[in-house]
Amino acid sequence: MATKGNKDGVQWVVPDPKRENWYWPSDALRQHAWVSDPKIYDQAKADPLAFWAKQAEGITWFQKWSKVYEDEPFAYKWFVGGKLNLSYNSLDRHVEAGRGDRVALIWEPEPLSEPHRTMTYKQLLEEVGRFANALKALGVRKGDRVGIYLPMIPEAVVAMQACARIGAPHTVVFSAFSAESLRDRLVDSGAKVLITADGYWRRGKAIDLKPQADQALPGTQVSKVVVVRRMGQEIPWDAQRDVWYHEITKGQPTECKPEPMDAEDLAFILYTSGTTGKPKGVMHTTGGYAVQVYTTAKWDFNLHEDDVHFCTADVGWITGHSYVNYGPLMNGVASLVYEGTPDFPDFGRMWQIVEKHKVTVYYTAPTAIRMHIKWGDEWPKKYNLNSLRVLGSVGEPINEEAWLWYFHLVGGKRCPIIDTWWQTETGATCVQALPGVGPFVPTVAGRPFPGIRARIVDASGQPVKAGEGGYLVLEPPFPPALLRGLYGDPEKFRATYFGEFGPKVYFTKDGSRMDEMGNIRVTGRVDDVMNVAGHRLATAEVEDALAQHPAVSEVAVVSKPDEIKGEVPVAFVLLKKGFQASEDLKKDLIKTVDKIIGPTARPSSIYFSEDVPKTRSGKIMRRVLKALVRGEAVGDITTLRNPECVEDLKRLVGYKG
Ligand code: WTA
Repeated sequence: MATKGNKDGVQWVVPDPKRENWYWPSDALRQHAWVSDPKIYDQAKADPLAFWAKQAEGITWFQKWSKVYEDEPFAYKWFVGGKLNLSYNSLDRHVEAGRGDRVALIWEPEPLSEPHRTMTYKQLLEEVGRFANALKALGVRKGDRVGIYLPMIPEAVVAMQACARIGAPHTVVFSAFSAESLRDRLVDSGAKVLITADGYWRRGKAIDLKPQADQALPGTQVSKVVVVRRMGQEIPWDAQRDVWYHEITKGQPTECKPEPMDAEDLAFILYTSGTTGKPKGVMHTTGGYAVQVYTTAKWDFNLHEDDVHFCTADVGWITGHSYVNYGPLMNGVASLVYEGTPDFPDFGRMWQIVEKHKVTVYYTAPTAIRMHIKWGDEWPKKYNLNSLRVLGSVGEPINEEAWLWYFHLVGGKRCPIIDTWWQTETGATCVQALPGVGPFVPTVAGRPFPGIRARIVDASGQPVKAGEGGYLVLEPPFPPALLRGLYGDPEKFRATYFGEFGPKVYFTKDGSRMDEMGNIRVTGRVDDVMNVAGHRLATAEVEDALAQHPAVSEVAVVSKPDEIKGEVPVAFVLLKKGFQASEDLKKDLIKTVDKIIGPTARPSSIYFSEDVPKTRSGKIMRRVLKALVRGEAVGDITTLRNPECVEDLKRLVGYKG
């Protein structure tokens, strides 16, 4: 099979002659790259405002800004006075420039028997226009929030774009989230309209979505539900409230004037996990988000017009917002949307898609790579992956084994790995190597993107020396796409991000270290947030869900490292009187988690314990539980109110520390 394999494509990287597993861009990559001169870092550092103003000129403004940046504590602003529209920049811009016939979206359904769909920029613009007009006809106005609860189908992108077009902030909820999670987000955002579907395919099974959507609605302000027909299956229907997407868009004009949005107008709200049980509504505004997403998509992945960009994230996460939808589309490339899972119908599915559509940029999470490793080397080897040019990683620290496997088996030792550090809050990538500059090194993300000021400090806020561990912080001028607030909770916004080191220092909650060259290695969260299979989750959320079960009197959840998923939750449950520990009860507790949050949050183990370690003031000492499940030294427990319980817990978890 001489045509298969991935070693015959262009050589985009060369090894460092002195350092093992270090790679640099090849001449071919330097010539192809938007940026290949490292001087860009110093130039941007000397004048970050000029740097970002120059990048902002790469997109289209209806009205130019009067001031690049305003540095008010908790109220930083970018491109003050500027007017623009995200949908215009994603679509119209390319059509007006004569690129309307280029492919904008490639949709790969899960069933192999179903043909894929492509939409050109012109077709996507028309579809977005029709749906935007239909939303207006339903009464949606600028500033109204719209909930989106859709699977990975083209309409998910159409819906987000249509909202952006009319200035209605969307709030997308991951389709595998439960009805209760959806309800919380609809209530908090005050959404008027919800867009959902009649289901989707997952591992060969037809999955319902509409019953969950219906269940979420009581107590929300949603008065209309738009339903996309994906499956054609029977679904519950409320004739007063529900409308079909295909019916309300039929007959709508394709033209819909994009709303001129102020740079600081709210673009969308996306809920994410903090350390408390209640997810926070991260607010992103229009101008800064547009500029940073556009620039990072272009530079990180070195996007050119003929690229086929495949980001495997769901649109329910920030990665899907920025690098399935807005980033690739603002850059005029083809963005690939895949409906299903990587293991269906077999473990080669992703590589089959790469071969079929000649994907050039592949962007995924370390947890997915570790699954592929487990499935075996034969799967990527079966397919021709020569089209690949850049490989991206996001969501959690990438371990060396995963990096090397990705580099060798997927990239054929030809492609740079761009390990991008960022967060829901930063909206776009912040720390990574640039393809034309390098270096590409396992477990090391790279330098802060030009124009971004990131530092590593100790607990008192003082910078640490090269090689020493510390906390990753961002300093003004803040990244243009950094969140502007938490919806409806300005106090929490200040306390969460600026409580630690003061109003002018954004605390990322990540630990990290920097080498002599200024390359950053992010080691992981230092708060009670877990990264479960690349999904962000608070231990408190899982605790809240379990506590709702009638048998539970008290519960503590901690994270434990997992070979595939990175981290998994482990629960310690104290039962109420009259309840007996049993396997059935464990199953029932898991069902409760599924119902309240979704299956992503399932604990990997549940221990029924008599007691959990507590301080004298009654706070659960999760640090001790964490050490127990990880087999680490438990440390000083003399200050506990109930140190004797630690011995029992050691037996319970089979502690061998
Ligand atoms: C972690 C996902 C190491 C980090 C875009 C961060 C990473 C959290 C990386 C945000 C990376 C993300 N290396 N850690 N390349 N990328 N993280 O909000 O702990 O879902 O704080 O955003 O993921 O997760 P979120």
